[in-house]
Formats: sequence, structure tokens, C-alpha cells
Amino acid sequence: LGTLIDRPYIHINCAATMDGRIALPDGSRLAISSPWDKARVHSLRAQLGSILVGAGTIISDDPKLNVNPDYSGTGAVIAKIVLDGRGRIPASARFLRTEGRSIVLTSGSASEGWAASLEEVSEDVSVVRLGDGPDIPIAKAWSALSDRGIHGVLVEGGSHVISSVLSSGAFDIFTVYTSPMIMGGSGPAIVGGAGFPIPIDLRLTAMQIPPGGGVLAEYKKV
Ligand SMILES: NC(=O)c1ccc[n+]([C@@H]2O[C@H](COP(=O)([O-])OP(=O)(O)OC[C@H]3O[C@@H](n4cnc5c(N)ncnc54)[C@H](OP(=O)(O)O)[C@@H]3O)[C@@H](O)[C@H]2O)c1
Repeated sequence: LGTLIDRPYIHINCAATMDGRIALPDGSRLAISSPWDKARVHSLRAQLGSILVGAGTIISDDPKLNVNPDYSGTGAVIAKIVLDGRGRIPASARFLRTEGRSIVLTSGSASEGWAASLEEVSEDVSVVRLGDGPDIPIAKAWSALSDRGIHGVLVEGGSHVISSVLSSGAFDIFTVYTSPMIMGGSGPAIVGGAGFPIPIDLRLTAMQIPPGGGVLAEYKKV
């Protein structure tokens, strides 16, 4: 994993409806993944050794960011990474209390008091400041993770994080599980933010209709 390049191996993954929505219109969690897909994602977390999400996902879903043995068949302990340039996530967040290291990547825009409140939760929590912010250049984030012994990262969203990572070009593979359901409306899409000046072209490298329905598509850079 990531031995030939100076960054971890980066796998972006998300689950979407047929119309590309990844959550309910108010941003709350939408059950999109099939049991097969949950097993795949939890196994990927265990295999890659770490998971990364953005501050928005922590604030709206409060996920544990762990490997659930009920889905993966294994109880691996992984590193949990959050991109939070302004320092918005609360110290009550559940992932700070699950087993394994928690690494919160932030910037000079976040307050010292906020950083201290997270680090007080456990000795496994570290807050790392990268640049003046609030945006953290993705290359800097990957290099900080490499320096901390992280060799593989499963980037799970949400929309703004996927946008940041796609536009950086610093990723290896992007998988999308599309569920046979349609949400409509204006909920968060796979890629959020202002969009790109020109479309990012990807190459479809594999497709599968898994047991239980849906489509799993795998893309790589052109
Ligand atoms: N279906 C799925 O597979 C899936 C998976 C995960 C999440 N979700 C859904 O996604 C939604 C959340 O998406 P979201 O777009 O609102 O939030 P998000 O992508 O989780 O987090 C966005 C925030 O992260 C911070 N951030 C992102 N990139 C950064 C960078 N390069 N440098 C510094 N900070 C950075 C920013 O915080 P600041 O604005 O404070 O700077 C940004 O607002 C939720 O509704 C959740 O349910 C779905």
C-alpha cells in the first residue's frame, strides 16, 4: 500500500441513490447501503487501516468510524481521521471514544481551546494543525498522515471532502455503490461545493451487480 509514492494509498468510497444523493435533504443519514455493501465497506476499513470523513459528517451523523464485526467478520482497530479546518466538531463526538487513534486535521483557523477540549478526551486523540487555513491542502494532509505511519485511507465523505480529494487528484481509486432508489429534491450529492471549472474525467475499471441489488462501480484516474 502506497509504498512507491509519498502519500498513503487513497480509496474514495460512497453510497448514493440513483439520482446521486448521499443523505436526506436536511443532511441527516439516509440508509442507502445494502447488507452486502456494509460488509464490503467495513472490510475495506479493516484492510486499509484508516477511515477519513469531514467535519460535516461528524456534526450531522456522529458516526463511530469503527469496524463493526457484525458487518466485517473482524473487529480490527483502525485510525479515525477527520478534516476540520475551522475546528467545528464537538468534544462529545462518538468517534473520539471508540478504540484506535483519532487524528483531527485542522488549521490555524481553529482555536487552541477547541483543540485542547478534543485532546482531553483521550490520549489517543491528536489534533494536527496544517497551515493557516481554513482550507487544508490535501497534499499536506496526506503527507502528515504518512508521517504518522498511515499507509492506506478510506475516504468516506461527505460531499465536500469528496470534492476536495477529487480536485486534488491525489487518490488511487473511487468506488460508488448505487442503490436502486431515487430520492429527488436537493439533498447532498456525491460531490458538493461549487463544482469544478471543468469536469473531472474518470475511467470505469470494474462493475458489479452485487447480491441484494444495486450496482458497484469502480473508477480510476484517466
Ligand atoms: N452516503 C455516503 O456514503 C455518505 C458518507 C459520508 C457522509 N455522508 C453524508 O454527507 C453529508 C455531509 O457532507 P458535507 O459535505 O456536509 O460534509 P463533509 O464533507 O463531511 O465535511 C465538510 C467539511 O469538512 C471540512 N473540510 C473538508 N475538506 C476540507 C479541507 N480540504 N480542509 C479543511 N477542512 C475541510 C470543512 O469544514 P469547514 O467548513 O468548517 O471548513 C467542510 O465544511 C451528511 O449528510 C452525511 O450523512 C454520506
